[in-house]
Amino acid sequence: MSLKWSTAMATGVRQIDLQHQELIEIINGLEAAHVAGETGRAVAEILPKLAAYVMFHFGTEEAMMASLEHDGGHVAAHMNEHREFAERMKQLAGRPLAADELPGLVTYLNGWLVGHIMHTDRELGALVSRHADP
Ligand SMILES: [Fe+2]
Repeated sequence: MSLKWSTAMATGVRQIDLQHQELIEIINGLEAAHVAGETGRAVAEILPKLAAYVMFHFGTEEAMMASLEHDGGHVAAHMNEHREFAERMKQLAGRPLAADELPGLVTYLNGWLVGHIMHTDRELGALVSRHADP
């Protein structure tokens, strides 16, 4: 089932929210390609596009983290989650993916993204907002 961004996922930082919406779009595209039987395209085009956008997005968030003064350990934990996920993406990109692996991959990506947004990125959003408006 495709994922839909909702205001429950809002971090309070528009730039991050827009990038999350784009990430969801790309993952939904991966699922749509699989449903359409275009696994080759999903793997050759959409997965690399997702990997690149994930790195761009992490860069945006990490630049925001760099400006935080009192983060209560948030930044280290957040960076760690990014690093683990980036590692996982690299492993995925490094080997051929079978068609029947795609649904499980989409479920994993959706689960990771929603969990990360709801907990970690919303926490970052609160820290950034507090920092901007003390
Ligand atoms: Fe994040």
